[in-house]
Amino acid sequence: MSHIESVLHENRHFPPSTTFQAQANVSGVAHYQALCEQARTTYPEFWANLAREHITWHKPFNRILDAGNAPFFRWFDDGELNVSWNCLDRHLTHYSARTAIIFEADDGTVSHVTYQQLFERVCAMANALKEQGIHKGDRIVIYLPMSVEAIVAMQACARIGAIHSVVFGGFSAKSLHERIMDAGARLIITADAGFRGGKTIPLKSVVDDALAMSTISPIERVIVYQRAGCSIHWQNGRDVWWHDCVSSQATFCEPEWMNAEDPLFILYTSGSTGRPKGVQHSSAGYLLGAITSMHWVFDAKPATDVFWCTADVGWITGHSYVTYGPLALGMTQVIFEGIPTWPDAGRFWRMIQQHRVTTFYTAPTAIRSLIKLGADLPAQHDLSSLRLLGTVGEPINPEAWLWFYRQIGQERCPVVDTWWQTETGAHMIAPLPGAITTKPGSCTLPLPGIQADILDEQGESLPVGEGGYLVVRQPFPSLLRTLWNDPERFKTTYFPVEFKGCYVAGDSAHRDEEGYFWIMGRIDDVLNVSGHRLGTMEIESALATHPAVAEAAVVGKPHDIKGETIVAFVVLKQQCPRNGAAKAMADELRHWVGKEIGAIAKPEEFRFGENLPKTRSGKIMRRLLRALARDEEISQDVSTLENPAILEQLKSVC
Ligand code: WTA
Repeated sequence: MSHIESVLHENRHFPPSTTFQAQANVSGVAHYQALCEQARTTYPEFWANLAREHITWHKPFNRILDAGNAPFFRWFDDGELNVSWNCLDRHLTHYSARTAIIFEADDGTVSHVTYQQLFERVCAMANALKEQGIHKGDRIVIYLPMSVEAIVAMQACARIGAIHSVVFGGFSAKSLHERIMDAGARLIITADAGFRGGKTIPLKSVVDDALAMSTISPIERVIVYQRAGCSIHWQNGRDVWWHDCVSSQATFCEPEWMNAEDPLFILYTSGSTGRPKGVQHSSAGYLLGAITSMHWVFDAKPATDVFWCTADVGWITGHSYVTYGPLALGMTQVIFEGIPTWPDAGRFWRMIQQHRVTTFYTAPTAIRSLIKLGADLPAQHDLSSLRLLGTVGEPINPEAWLWFYRQIGQERCPVVDTWWQTETGAHMIAPLPGAITTKPGSCTLPLPGIQADILDEQGESLPVGEGGYLVVRQPFPSLLRTLWNDPERFKTTYFPVEFKGCYVAGDSAHRDEEGYFWIMGRIDDVLNVSGHRLGTMEIESALATHPAVAEAAVVGKPHDIKGETIVAFVVLKQQCPRNGAAKAMADELRHWVGKEIGAIAKPEEFRFGENLPKTRSGKIMRRLLRALARDEEISQDVSTLENPAILEQLKSVC
């Protein structure tokens, strides 16, 4: 780990204001410390108490944690509940008329959905799914645009115990196909198309292509939400309209009472090998993580807050902080179909003003692009409703943090930089805004009950300032339970033997004198492009399937706005192309990757060579490729290189 060095030195401190602290759910640092202490001394009862307080159980649990088959931990596993019941039914007695969702469409049309209405729509959809023959434990793929329907679909699955696997609408037919097959899904819920930035984004045609990719598909039904009204291919007997299947359904559906450990959903995420991982979450433990973090980190005030998390439901952030967390607390939230830069880069700020948003949670990449496209725009809007800001997905550079704090939060709102992952289900390291002094660029301190540490390769804890592997020492309820169909990969990826039972996150980090965590980036070959995780191997395999490609390696290169962009080094089967031919080939390969994985995975830069830099044992020297991608002088020893001459070739960009 000697090469992991932190270059970030940031000393500014921002303590919570007395006004914020006075009203906070966790008020003052002593309160935070008391919770941490309680977690340490009463572990795991600490979590059991929270589970009793925040979840309404159909059958209370007696067992708290079963670690007998570690790392396959089980929490509260003789208890029964329904997640959708916890998100909807339990609010109906006292605030059925409260707005659950303020939906703003791409074209600016706004609609409000109350808890009562959302409940009825979820019930009708749940009944429709049952009519289609869906049972508890069946897998359903959801491939929808940001919409009320996406939430209804997920909640309807949860209501009847079907396991959803949401696939982000930006993924290609091939990626969708892979996920359908791996999960063995029986049904897909999609839309004809979605709208983003004034453009129509086809979805149903991608589903059709995905389903045409194999002769035997587990999919029996495709439910199509008519969003755009465009013409689509229709397969009688397989395809049904959403509005047709819900129209005659009862608006009440008895929930399926689920065991705490029954899977709630699978969400595929990139790992360091070619195949995406189906991260499997539990019902109760996952829900508890979403709820406690809403309460602690977002300082949730359900009766008065207007919460807005800008993430798409296709990512974990959209699961925990759109579909489950806010609804479980009975919050009012904004859901947005469009993009932040259309019709102009003031869209977010106008929406905050119009909907009186109090809590705004977005990605550093969005902040950076909005600074670039219209730093003056926030000042033209009334942002006085805001009281708390948050970021997620990648490290935030102090400049972007400060801009967010000053221009958007007007130095009044704490900024919570939240570190967590698809696998952890909920925030792990993040400031509790009424308690913790923030420092731009640091996600600060672990949540109560989370024992984070930084270890060296031998599994020993590292001292202040030294970079190493970020781990969590003890199991916690919201952690993934396994990888779908691949328990072995779950064990070896997240609980490698050297780390003695710790959960290994795959990130590197270091700590400062005050114990604050600073995330330095991924340790494995996972890239973070605009906050989206992409495996280098995935992209390399996609490139290698192109008939002209002999070999390819991709690396990340720092980017002002996106965090990282992808640079591909490619060896063709034919002669190495030059000038115009190289450009044409780069365009073709870019398009190819877009089709194989999705537009988010398209490399920005291509470099062609007759070979890749390899050691004499044939290993690609990725570190050299990274240096080349960054146009750095090669200071490393290249004497072990099989073919030093090719370095020159790989310097030219297309
Ligand atoms: C990165 C997103 C620094 C990290 C919730 C992690 C972050 C990966 C932060 C997970 C943050 C996420 N600071 N890095 N606040 N939040 N990351 O699974 O590398 O899409 O491992 O979950 O994003 O990405 P994922």
